[in-house]
Amino acid sequence: MNAIFNKITHQLFHHKTWKGYWEPIIQLFLPAWRDSYYRAKVVAFKSLRADVVQLTLSPEKKWPIHKAGQHIALTVEVDGKLITRIFTIACGTTTRKSQGVIRLIIKVKDDGALTPFLGNFSKGKWVNISPPMGSFSLPHGKSVLMIAGGSGITPFLAMLEDYQANKKGSLEDKQSIHLIYYAKPHEHLLVEELTEFANHNESFSFQLLSRMHDGDIEPYLAQHGTSHWMVCGPFELYQQVAQTAKLINVPVDSEHFVAFPHLTDNTNSPKQQLIVKHNKTTLTVSNTETLLTQLQKADVPVSYGCGMGICHQCQCIKKSGVVRDVRTGELSDSAEQLIQLCVSQAATDLELQA
Ligand code: FES
Repeated sequence: MNAIFNKITHQLFHHKTWKGYWEPIIQLFLPAWRDSYYRAKVVAFKSLRADVVQLTLSPEKKWPIHKAGQHIALTVEVDGKLITRIFTIACGTTTRKSQGVIRLIIKVKDDGALTPFLGNFSKGKWVNISPPMGSFSLPHGKSVLMIAGGSGITPFLAMLEDYQANKKGSLEDKQSIHLIYYAKPHEHLLVEELTEFANHNESFSFQLLSRMHDGDIEPYLAQHGTSHWMVCGPFELYQQVAQTAKLINVPVDSEHFVAFPHLTDNTNSPKQQLIVKHNKTTLTVSNTETLLTQLQKADVPVSYGCGMGICHQCQCIKKSGVVRDVRTGELSDSAEQLIQLCVSQAATDLELQA
């Protein structure tokens, strides 16, 4: 029955489900309720530094238990617009299970679309979150080298929390962990927590480095050639680590969020120029970049959030034509349907309606 209601609502009103149609009414009783999102209540907001805040959220009960190292899409309403950004959960499963909360550590960017407004989200306010996502997690039973850059420390804080909690329950654990943490001088985050972990775990050690004083990372990697490497931070740091790992044949896991405009075309289809009508604007686009990237380049006003196919804020109605989903390579049919601009490429001429 649900499926039938959803189909009718989709065809008539372009809402994914019938519940979505009733969203404004449901929100009168459940603040920030949104179809396909989870709700979370702000429990605490703390400044860790002039440009870094810690947000503690209590997700609704049905939110799935996350794994240390996973991330979420956080959506907040700013001036009537929904803005979504991706953040790693900076605590382990242990905190969620014992206190019912998760924390995010967020670098505030003055020109950011979301972070400058986080100060408005005081205790008791509601936000939306996605389910936990990602597979960046601590491998079991192996010695690990963690490499963090700037706010890339967050997944490792979560992993260390669960590592410590699990170790308490086990009689023998030969896993050792070393962390190399790069940041600007005096800008390393939560050093007290790292010191605490090191004080309680002989098998955990860390070093704080800055490029200005200590140079690039390569010389610090050589002595960890028998460990499993994990890296989270700026792309340049990842590149340096990945190159060294390749040279000495070390496994490396990484977490850095890449929006779809950077993906190259993987369909091997010849490059084509196609015509897209978007509301009253007509433009020529290529079939090898996402529609969102090309509409932005052409200064066509479009809503968007994560740029990764998660938040649905770039959704619009395709009235005619065929698009390719860049995640799967699948082609749509030519009928009217909702598409996400950030993960769609034109495969034929298109007519879009925002
Ligand atoms: S911008 Fe989030 S799904 Fe497209």
